[in-house]
Amino acid sequence: MDIVLSGIRSTGNLHLGNYYGALRNFIKMQDENKCFFFIADIHSLTTHPDPKILHGNVRNVLVDYLAAGIDPEKSVIYVQSEVPEVAELYLYLNMHAYLGELSKTTSFKEKARKQPENVNAGLLTYPTLMAADILIHNADKVPVGKDQEQHLEMTRRFARRFNNFYGVEYFKEPVAYNFGQELIKIPGLDGSGKMGKSEGNAIYLADSPKDIEKKVKRALTDSGPTEPHSVKPDYIENLFTILRVVSAPDVVQHFEDKWNTCEIRYGDLKKQLAEDIIKVTAPIRDRILEIEKDEAYLHKVTTEGAEKARESAGKTVREVREIMGFKAF
Ligand code: TRP
Repeated sequence: MDIVLSGIRSTGNLHLGNYYGALRNFIKMQDENKCFFFIADIHSLTTHPDPKILHGNVRNVLVDYLAAGIDPEKSVIYVQSEVPEVAELYLYLNMHAYLGELSKTTSFKEKARKQPENVNAGLLTYPTLMAADILIHNADKVPVGKDQEQHLEMTRRFARRFNNFYGVEYFKEPVAYNFGQELIKIPGLDGSGKMGKSEGNAIYLADSPKDIEKKVKRALTDSGPTEPHSVKPDYIENLFTILRVVSAPDVVQHFEDKWNTCEIRYGDLKKQLAEDIIKVTAPIRDRILEIEKDEAYLHKVTTEGAEKARESAGKTVREVREIMGFKAF
């Protein structure tokens, strides 16, 4: 069984794009691998979040993941800051991470440009912390999006460098978990290619049916096709793309036919689309509303998760200390 490590940003609620892009695959992944899921709240400190909202952010993400089907009976779910061994490994790995390579990282350069008033050392060493997250469990596979591939590449380099420097074969070189065909990209309702929080066009798993109807109703359309079988403009194609994901094939065919004969009524299309999106999100939302109130459950999940994570992390840190030459008197 492979060890899979999945790091989750602690900002923002999950939306339909996250669900089809990753979450649905995470749920399946749990049956075939030993999975660790953690919420990267230490990483979020690089942007100096208000202490008053830090915990709430972590909580929201935790609730969403549990509601969607990340199962504490099958996987280890924990909050990064509750596993201090990660910070210790990060410290050691930093001794072998060089200013030249860190400052050349794409994410660092981007962040430094975005927040020139706060180019802190944590931002610079973000990839080392991410490497510590992964190497602390000696993970084989890491599900990452395109934007995180460089970080994973750096993790492999840090692992290799550690092994070479100390003359050991200790760390594995983790590879990206590839979902291949299973990876579905959900476009925005505003004509943009991607649904996202920062794009401001997202339908959240926690949205009420009313919210979803409203959002779908607002989706960009036009006065309709004038030529039979014409090519759809991007913003209409986007609606069809989502329809193909959430609706039955005959429903999709129905609207394709209406489009092709120039009889399409966007009102009907949107009504159907909203209805079928709600069918997907409603059970998750119900669970969100339930879990959200359940302090005892959230406490139990995170406490037991941290305990299991610390078992695995503690073993790594002990072995790393020994390899590096620390010795008790
Ligand atoms: N950097 C990741 C992101 O922004 C989050 C993350 C932190 C992560 N540590 C990780 C992802 C370890 C995978 C493995 O999405």
